[in-house]
Amino acid sequence: IQYEFGMVGLGVMGRNLMLNIADNGFSVIGLDLDPEKAAAVETEAGAGKPVRGTTSAEEFVQSLRKPRALMLLVPAGKAVDAVIASLLPLLEPGDIVIDGGNSYFPDTDRRVVELEAKGIHFFGMGISGGEKGARFGPSMMPGGNREAYERLRPIFEAVAAKVNGEPCVTFLGNGSAGNYVKMVHNGIEYAIMQLIAETYDLLKRGVGLSDDELQSVFQDWNQTELQSFLIEITGVILQKKDDVTGQPLVNLISDVARSKGTGKWTSQNAMDLQAPVPSIDMAVLMRDMSKLKEERVEAARLLPNDSLQVSVDTDRKEFLNQMRNAFYFAMISTYAQGMAQLKMASEAYNYGLQLQDVAKIWRGGCIIRAACLTDIRAAYEQNSSLANLLLDSKIGDDLLSRQEDVRAIVKTAIDKGIPVPAFMASLSYFDAYRTETLPTNIIQAQRDYFGAHTYERVDKLGFFHTQWD
Ligand code: 6PG
Repeated sequence: IQYEFGMVGLGVMGRNLMLNIADNGFSVIGLDLDPEKAAAVETEAGAGKPVRGTTSAEEFVQSLRKPRALMLLVPAGKAVDAVIASLLPLLEPGDIVIDGGNSYFPDTDRRVVELEAKGIHFFGMGISGGEKGARFGPSMMPGGNREAYERLRPIFEAVAAKVNGEPCVTFLGNGSAGNYVKMVHNGIEYAIMQLIAETYDLLKRGVGLSDDELQSVFQDWNQTELQSFLIEITGVILQKKDDVTGQPLVNLISDVARSKGTGKWTSQNAMDLQAPVPSIDMAVLMRDMSKLKEERVEAARLLPNDSLQVSVDTDRKEFLNQMRNAFYFAMISTYAQGMAQLKMASEAYNYGLQLQDVAKIWRGGCIIRAACLTDIRAAYEQNSSLANLLLDSKIGDDLLSRQEDVRAIVKTAIDKGIPVPAFMASLSYFDAYRTETLPTNIIQAQRDYFGAHTYERVDKLGFFHTQWD
């Protein structure tokens, strides 16, 4: 049999996506150098399914229907280049190679050029949703050659998550557009996770909610406008008890947070583009702060937080209400920052992104799926060149009506000495964006004072220099 699709790398993601593809009626062959993994995929698929696993690159390539379509799900970086190099001599013009990993977008651009020169279409496609998503419906973010995408479209639309019947996959744009969109997805993911962590801290140490109360707060919130995958799993996580001690498992988990780099890339590239994404930046740096464990233990002793004793006059119900509004505000501010970065990136790299499509395919399957993406999509559908989500009247009015609550929450955190950098950044982004005249005129004057860098004036055109002293 000639298989319709090939998968290279049968780790968790590759194997599950393969089984998903097979469930949707497509024949699929997988390649992995580990014989156990190659065999496991056939066993898992069960008899009668058109699923094959092999350790032979020759058998793999020869068993694929031409023009071939194959996906790589191997760790980002050198492994991707190594796999491409090993398969390239076996491939032919017209074949399509899809990289489904979290590859760094400049690597994708390089590979597109290298492979197009040989007549092979290369696709960077971000895939989100983890193990379950891969198995039952991920969100997929493809970019590259549009005609090649059209050939793959039936497979991708079949396996993707669906929201109201609409598949969470669509062609996003040229070159590395798919990897770029997935990178920013992960930046937003980091920021929302950080906002949840700050909320948890404030409710626990600040207001004194018990573990049981905390869990029900998140469960209740998932029935409101905060409805989202990350709020939902937080409710489930807080419920989980350690088998041995019976304590909530989270209380036994070290606070040192790890990362694989996608959030950092989002911030780094935002700086290159001069796109402000402060909530994402804060999320990246709080993971870095978490790694300074020994120093923090020492500092906690030397610089004790007596402010925690400060009693804040709060009615719990009222506080939870404010907290929910504050979370919604900060979450929307975070999406606004990420979307604005995507807009700038699309212009800088000629991706041709349609932000309504990005919002559409993020509504299901991915880690940042959230009810609010329906409104975000509507905003861009109404005006696809919207400079910033905050300028949409519905979203803008919604944030205006919640801003006092986020201010109250941040004040409480400050009074208690509890760090809430992502909330503060989300609020400051809003406050700065809607400020007509920022104090940066002072910075311009200072630059001119010490470096003769010149400044522009509000009343005349041109660049001016002053002898200040
Ligand atoms: C997803 C996730 C996925 C992965 C992250 C984790 O969309 O399914 O984002 O890609 O879990 O890369 O990133 P860190 O290890 O950096 O937290």
